[in-house]
Amino acid sequence: MPSSVMPTTTPGAGPQAPAAVSAAGLRKSYGDKTVLDGIDLRIPAGSVFALLGPNGAGKTTTVQILSTLISADGGQAQVAGHDLATAPQAVRGAIGVTGQFSAVDGLITGEENMLLMADLHLIPRREGKQIAAELLERFGLTEAAKKPASTYSGGMKRRLDIAMTLVGSPRVIFLDEPTTGLDPRSRHNMWQIIRELVTGGVTVFLTTQYLEEADELADRIAVLNDGRIAAEGTAEELKRLVPGGHVRLRFTDPGAYRDAAGALPGSTADDDSLTLQIPSDGSQRDLRSVLDRLDAAGVEADELTVHTPDLDDVFFALTGGAGVPAQSAQSAQSAPSDATKETVR
Ligand SMILES: Nc1ncnc2c1ncn2[C@@H]1O[C@H](COP(=O)(O)OP(=O)(O)OP(=O)(O)O)[C@@H](O)[C@H]1O
Ligand SMILES: [Mg+2]
Repeated sequence: MPSSVMPTTTPGAGPQAPAAVSAAGLRKSYGDKTVLDGIDLRIPAGSVFALLGPNGAGKTTTVQILSTLISADGGQAQVAGHDLATAPQAVRGAIGVTGQFSAVDGLITGEENMLLMADLHLIPRREGKQIAAELLERFGLTEAAKKPASTYSGGMKRRLDIAMTLVGSPRVIFLDEPTTGLDPRSRHNMWQIIRELVTGGVTVFLTTQYLEEADELADRIAVLNDGRIAAEGTAEELKRLVPGGHVRLRFTDPGAYRDAAGALPGSTADDDSLTLQIPSDGSQRDLRSVLDRLDAAGVEADELTVHTPDLDDVFFALTGGAGVPAQSAQSAQSAPSDATKETVR
């Protein structure tokens, strides 16, 4: 795995670090629909936590509860050292929230939106202007700063939205799908900004539909399904929970394809694409055994691909109703796997 895709690990993110967010038994229902059915969380200060889950799983609901926008029906939580139920104002003073849907006011300019946030934080005008200018610059919005926000593209509005969240220098930031709708460059810029925030000691709680984003950024990831945390752990720990590693061989010659299928009895064959799929842990020994058997049969594949489980596999296994039983990834026993997909010709 290239180092660029290693999960972020910061000195403050160890298990001994004080919790920036902790929750026990959070419950929330709307009518007779149970959305959260007992959620436990512990997010060390100075780390990135990603909450994944299918549409309607309750990610936004969790963010809304932890950021005091709505109250839970049961359970308890502390954010930035303050109790949600007894000290919501103190929680509000310590956090920043970027909701799933924009808080940007389209009728005023980007700069005015920023200054409004500074006013809300009771920051003196001159200092507010300076902070606004710095953040607009950091998010590539200086040129557009004097234009009404309604004229911004979706990605620009999203960036302004997050810039506004940072005005009060919050210690804990909730980002509900921060990069939805951003182009790849803007998304990478956003990741960079999030990393810088974390380096500065900020704790980031994000929800995302992009598994690559969780893989890239998060120290720990939780998958929400059916109102509960189906699994929680580092990206690597979660990947170890799912089977699905395999070697795929592709042929162009139907004769070679048939011979290979005969030499590899455990494989799954696809006659249309002339491919064979062999369950494998992706280890060198396993690969060598496949290659030895092909050699013995005198056939050569046109393409060989090693696939080890990625977060997509984890997501499908945990949220599809079947597959891996709910458990903490920390208890997974299997060997570590390299999460990259690699092609060897
Ligand atoms: N104010 C509300 N009144 C009634 N039901 C609600 C309300 N807010 C959310 N829900 C329901 O709660 C469930 C969870 O919604 P939530 O917005 O938390 O999901 P989500 O995981 O953020 O989904 P998405 O990926 O689509 O953003 C959904 O079934 C939703 O319809
Ligand atoms: Mg949502």
